[in-house]
Amino acid sequence: MKPTYYITTPIYYPSNKLHIGNAYTTIAADAMARYKRLRGYDVYYLTGTDEHGQKLQERAAEDGKQPLEFIDPIVDWIKDLWAKLDISYDDFIRTTQPRHKEVVQKVFKRLLDQGDIYLGEYEGYYCVPDEAFWTETQCKTDKGYFCPDCGREVKKVKEKNYFFRLSKYQDKLLKFLEENPDFIQPESRRNEMINNFLKPGLQDLSVSRSSFDWGIKVPNDPEHVVYVWIDALTNYISALGYLSDDDSKFRKYWPADVHLVGKDILRFHTIYWPILLMALDVPLPKKVFGHGWLLMPDGKMSKSKGNVIDPKLLIDRYGSDGVRYFLLREINFGQDGVFTPEAFIQRLNYDLANDIGNLLSRTTTMIEKYFDGIVPAPQEAGEPDDSLIQLATRTKALVEEHMDEMRFSNALAHIWELIGRTNKYIDETMPWNLAKSEETRGRLATVMYNLAESIRIASILIQPFMTKAPAKIWDQLGILDKPEALTWESAGVWGGLPVGSTVSRKELLFPRLDVQAELAFIDESTAEARRQAEENKRKQEALKGEVSVNETTANQTETQAAEKPADVKEEIKIDDFAKVELRVAQVVECVKHPNADKLLVLQLDLGYEKRQVVSGIAKYYTPEEMIGKKVILVANLKPVKLRGELSQGMILAASAGDQLTLATVDPSMPNGAVVK
Ligand code: ME8
Ligand code: MG
Repeated sequence: MKPTYYITTPIYYPSNKLHIGNAYTTIAADAMARYKRLRGYDVYYLTGTDEHGQKLQERAAEDGKQPLEFIDPIVDWIKDLWAKLDISYDDFIRTTQPRHKEVVQKVFKRLLDQGDIYLGEYEGYYCVPDEAFWTETQCKTDKGYFCPDCGREVKKVKEKNYFFRLSKYQDKLLKFLEENPDFIQPESRRNEMINNFLKPGLQDLSVSRSSFDWGIKVPNDPEHVVYVWIDALTNYISALGYLSDDDSKFRKYWPADVHLVGKDILRFHTIYWPILLMALDVPLPKKVFGHGWLLMPDGKMSKSKGNVIDPKLLIDRYGSDGVRYFLLREINFGQDGVFTPEAFIQRLNYDLANDIGNLLSRTTTMIEKYFDGIVPAPQEAGEPDDSLIQLATRTKALVEEHMDEMRFSNALAHIWELIGRTNKYIDETMPWNLAKSEETRGRLATVMYNLAESIRIASILIQPFMTKAPAKIWDQLGILDKPEALTWESAGVWGGLPVGSTVSRKELLFPRLDVQAELAFIDESTAEARRQAEENKRKQEALKGEVSVNETTANQTETQAAEKPADVKEEIKIDDFAKVELRVAQVVECVKHPNADKLLVLQLDLGYEKRQVVSGIAKYYTPEEMIGKKVILVANLKPVKLRGELSQGMILAASAGDQLTLATVDPSMPNGAVVK
C-alpha cells in the first residue's frame, strides 16, 4: 500500500475574486501535492471556500443579493482560476454544503454535551474583515479601537454567546508544542505563537454569534450561528467524512501531513484548531506551515485593501507555467516577498525564455541539423562531460531534500543550476566546430546526447512546478510515449534517454518578451485596482482621522505657543554629520518583540543586504502597517541587543510628546539609496 499524504490550503472567503497572494498558497500546495505523487504517495489535496460570516453577508447585501446568489459566481470564478492554473486538488469543499454543515453541528453538540462549550455573556471587540475577536486592551489605541493584526477599526459587541473552554486545554497545548518542535513551521513563527499568544494565557473563545444569521445554526438554539472560524477549521475533517456514514477517507488520510496557511491565520491553526481537535479526541495534524506574504509596494496584497493583481490577467497573457514558476522561485517560502512587474517579466525572460527555452531550441536545432533529428549514441566521454553528468545525476537528490522541507525556491535554483551548466556545456564544447570535420563526429554525437539527456532530467524535475512545459519538452525530444524515460526515478540516473529517439523542433517553449511593452501592459491593466486601493486607503484614514481630529484640537493651544525646545544641541561641522550613514531601507517583515510590548522587530531590505532592527514604535504602528514602508536607516550604528533581539541600526522618526511619525521616503526610491 502506498503511504498517504494529506495536504490542505486555507478555504478562501469568496468575498471577492482571488488575487495572486491567494493563488500563491494554492500553487505551493499544488507543487507539493504533485511532488509527493511523483514520489509514490497516495495524495489527498483539499481546497475550498469559506462561505459564512458577517463579512460575506454584508458584502452580498451591499450588492442587493442573497448570500449564495452573491457567492456562487465567485466560487465558479475561483474554480475556473484553479483550472487555469492546473491545480490538481482532489476535493473542493464549500462550507455551505450539507456534508460540512452536518459535521459542524455534530462537533458543536458534542462539545456542548461534554461541557467544553457553555453559554455565557460576551463583551469585546470584533474585527469583521478578519472575523477575529479581541479584548479591550488588545485593541485600544489613543485614536480609537483597532485590530492589532490588520489595523482596521473593530466593532464593539455585547451579546449572549456560547464559549469554548480554550483555557482548559492551554497547558496541554503548550506541552504538545514543546514536545513537537516541528509542528509549527517556520520556527520563528512557532516562537511568536508560543510567546505572544499562548504564554500570556488563553481566554475562553466566543464561538457563536447572534447579531447576524449567515452561518451554521447552533444545534437547538437557532438564534445563534457558529463562529466562522470553528465552522471553517472543521472543513479539514468534514471533507474526509468525519462523523459521517462513510468515514473511510478520514480513517485513511487523517491526520493531515500539512496545513498550508498564510502567517495571517497561523494563530487560528496552531491554537484554536489543535485545541478543538484535542477536545474531540482526534489526533492533531503533523504540521502547520505559515508562509509569508506577497507584498505590493504599499504593503500586503489583500482583497479588502484592493491593491491586488488578478492572477487571470497574468495567466492569460504569460501562461500558467510562468506564473507558477515566478511565485515559487521569487519568494523564499517562509518569508515575505514583493511582487513587482519588473521582476516578473525579467524572470520570464531570463529563466524561462533564455535559460530553458533557448537550451531546448538550440539542442533540437542542432540534433536536426547534424543527425537528421535522431538522438545519436554517445561515444567516448571525458571533460567537460563528466562534470555535467555528475551535476545532472546529483540534482534529483538536492531537489528532493529541499522539497521535503517546502523550500521551493531552493529546489528550483538547483534545477536551474543544471540548466545553466548545460548551456555552458554548449559554449565549452562548441558543437558547430565539431561538426566541421568527420573526425570529430563521435565527439559531436556525445555532446548532442548529453545535451538532450540533461534536458530530459531537468524536464522531469520541473513537474511539480510547471504543468505544461514538461510534456512540450518530451514531445520535442520524442519521448512523450516512452514512460520508462519519464519516471521520477529515472531523473537520478544518467542515460535514460533512448538512443534513436526522434527529436523535432517546435514552437518556442517561452517567448521572449519586450520588457517595456509588457510593463506598460501590466501597468495599464492594474490601474483600476490601484485607484480603488487608493480610495479604500483614504476611506480607512478618514475613519481614523475622525477620531484623532478631536485630540488635535485639544492639543492645539500647546503647539501654537511653542517655545524654543529645551533639547537643542550644540553646533556641529559638516564632517561630523558626514560620519552618519543614512540609507533608504524597506520593511519586508515586522513582528512584535517577543518580550517587550513597546518594541517591534523589523526586517529591512537595504538592497545590498538585509538588516534586523528593533524599534520602539509598537504603540504607534501595527506590524502590518509597517510592511512595505521605505524608512531611513542609520546604517553605520554599532549593533546592540535589545531585550534579546539583535538591532543592527536605527530608523528615524519625528516625535513630539505623545506623537510619533516615521520618516519615510517616496516608494520610488531604490533600497539602499543614500540620504544626505
Ligand atoms: O483567512 N500573500 O480566508 P482569506 C500571500 N477563510 N498569501 C496571501 C496573501 C498575500 N498577500 N493574502 C492572502 C481566510 N493570502 C479564511 C481561512 S481556513 C480554515 C479559513 C493567502 O480569503 C494566505 O494563505 O482571507 C492566507 O492565509 C489566505 O490567503 C487567507 O485567505
Ligand atoms: Mg484574509
